[in-house]
Amino acid sequence: MSELNETVLVTGGAGYIGSHTCVELLQSGRKVIVLDNLSNASKASIEAVEQITQKKLPIIEGDIRDRVALDQVFSKNSISSVLHFAGLKAVGESNEFPLKYYDNNVNGTLNLIESMTAHDCKTLVFSSSATVYGIPEKMPLTEDSDVGAINPYGRTKLLVEEMLKDLYAADPEWRVSLLRYFNPVGAHASGEIGEDPNDIPNNLLPFISQVAVGRLDKLQVFGDDYDTADGTGVRDYIHVVDLARGHLAALDYLEPAPKLGIHNLGTGQGYSVLEAVNAFEQASGRSIPYEVSARRPGDAATSYADPTKAREELNWQAKYDLQKMCEDAWRWQSKHPMGYGS
Ligand code: NAD
Ligand code: WQD
Repeated sequence: MSELNETVLVTGGAGYIGSHTCVELLQSGRKVIVLDNLSNASKASIEAVEQITQKKLPIIEGDIRDRVALDQVFSKNSISSVLHFAGLKAVGESNEFPLKYYDNNVNGTLNLIESMTAHDCKTLVFSSSATVYGIPEKMPLTEDSDVGAINPYGRTKLLVEEMLKDLYAADPEWRVSLLRYFNPVGAHASGEIGEDPNDIPNNLLPFISQVAVGRLDKLQVFGDDYDTADGTGVRDYIHVVDLARGHLAALDYLEPAPKLGIHNLGTGQGYSVLEAVNAFEQASGRSIPYEVSARRPGDAATSYADPTKAREELNWQAKYDLQKMCEDAWRWQSKHPMGYGS
């Protein structure tokens, strides 16, 4: 495979999903360069990836909105493809500071694809999100389900998807993979890289992990009156290593010929908040105190993927179940109670 001799540029590669994907890329024999402005990550993740893989992972501290920095990366290296993780991802913050999100996520991506075009690099895998399905009506979600984001973060993902579709329509030499992630959780089995939120976690699994390790007192369960088996919200949690491997599958899918593909990356299995709490208690041997509070505005009752298209076209499917996700998340959290700052 020609790609093996060339370099994959990973934007946002110091972050949670990017760092796990770098492990898989390096272990597959690819050369990798990370571009990250470290706004939501630290270099410690890069060092940990080097430790795990025993391979070098060069990082350029730079911003995707900086055209000069991007042009330098493309001129100095033979970049065959870009995995584009860089962006901001906090839904609540996006309501408060929408322009920050449009600038980072939309403007940043526009800048990136302009630089790619100028350097004739036309292979891109983009981190989209199940959030583009908004508050869905019918489960499971297929790639043809209606889209309609309900917050600025989600709209930035939809805008970038549209922008990339327009780009491909105008120039069918592009190879573009839009991956709609469901709920990435867990950590590398070594326990040396994982999710390390800056402030109080917004998402369920990191919150539970921090309760288990004693950093937070108790979990608030956002509503137990949904139309689900136990009344709590149901989501398609996917192990971050499975997700990372989905990106290698996407590169293989793009390799034979130019195309644009849209794929859900999920397991197809939904779990409730209380099932996640139970699984984490078993994995950690700790009890997770919780209390039920009001629903969080904007939350859907249920969201899970139909993963058929990814299985058939990417030749990829998730392997790990919720128990393994919790075991690995707990290994990372218990080895590094304060994250990379430990
Ligand atoms: P993360 O915050 O851990 O990683 C994003 C990385 O991008 C960070 O290292 C950050 O420093 C970097 N970054 C941000 N803005 C940048 C910029 N302008 N220039 C250069 N680097 C920049 O988040 P993650 O969970 O790893 O998410 C990766 C991608 O996947 C994001 O695009 C996110 O929207 C998307 N996504 C995440 C989830 C999730 O639940 N984690 C779900 C669906 C989609
Ligand atoms: C999961 C379930 C909550 C926290 C978010 C983004 C989405 C995507 C993935 C980026 C829900 C409940 C949560 C808590 C709780 N990210 N919950 N107490 O909302 O499905 O998706 O992350 O693209 O865009 O919106 O994930 O982990 O926040 O919530 O009860 O303290 O846990 O109500 O049912 P969500 P989540």
